[in-house]
This record gives sequence, C-alpha cells and structure tokens, in this order.
Amino acid sequence: MHEDFEEIKSTYKGKKSDIIPLLQDIQIKYGYLPGEMMQEVSRFVGVSKSEVFGVATFYSQFRFTPKGRTHVMVCKGTACHVSGADKIIEGIERHLGVKEGDVTFDMEYSLESVGCLGCCALAPCAMVNDEIKSNISLKDVKRLFSKRKN
Ligand code: FES
Repeated sequence: MHEDFEEIKSTYKGKKSDIIPLLQDIQIKYGYLPGEMMQEVSRFVGVSKSEVFGVATFYSQFRFTPKGRTHVMVCKGTACHVSGADKIIEGIERHLGVKEGDVTFDMEYSLESVGCLGCCALAPCAMVNDEIKSNISLKDVKRLFSKRKN
C-alpha cells in the first residue's frame, strides 16, 4: 500500500461513506486525485475503482490532473461566453500547447474553464492563480502567458 494512503486512511474505517472524505483528504494532499490513490480507496472501501471514479466525477470539487504552477481558469459564464471565452481558451491552448483540463509537460501551466467568476461587467475574464484578469483579448494571451525558454 502507498505510504501516503496508509496515513490518510488511518482515521477511517473503510465504509462506503468514507469515499468522499477520503477523496477530499487525497486532494488536499496532492491537489488532485492520482489514479493510484483512487485504486487504494477502492481496495480499502471494497468497491470497484470505477465506482470510486464515478463518485469523484459526480462532484466538481475533484480534479483528475495536477495543477500547474500557474493555474488559469477561464470563465465560461454567460457574459464571458458571449464575449468570446471560447476563443480565449483556444488562443491559450494554441499558445501554451495545453488542452483545457490539462497541464503543460513542464507543469508550468494548467488550464480549465469555470462558471461565472462574478465580474461579468469586465467580460471576458479569467482567474490566474488568485488574480482576476479582465477584458481579455486574444492579443493579451501572449502577453499574459509567457512560455518558458529552454
Ligand atoms: S460570466 Fe464571466 S465573470 Fe460572470
């Protein structure tokens, strides 16, 4: 058994109702749910891995990929959607070589879309780590997200 899981499971009894709190603890530790940890949950609780995965996908709080050092959340709420959020996401994907919901190879950037960020008057918006970027245009994408030079 994975030694981190040994520690995480120590306060649980292995009941089905432990699945969600176990997944929450794993996500707090890793920032996402690694596959091998979901396997450990499945063994510990005695349900299939697909059942654990099914529970995890039901809740939007859970992530299945790690976050990059810079985590970009582009708003896809109504105001941002009509202001071109999809084009912004495509622009970021092209510029950084990362797909929505994924992280770059160097773990520098992760990209995801989210619901309304609460600053609709400044659409389209994105949250970059803890900072709101507003009125983003395609031109801003290169300026906001620099690629690391090797
Ligand atoms: S819809 Fe994007 S901030 Fe509200």
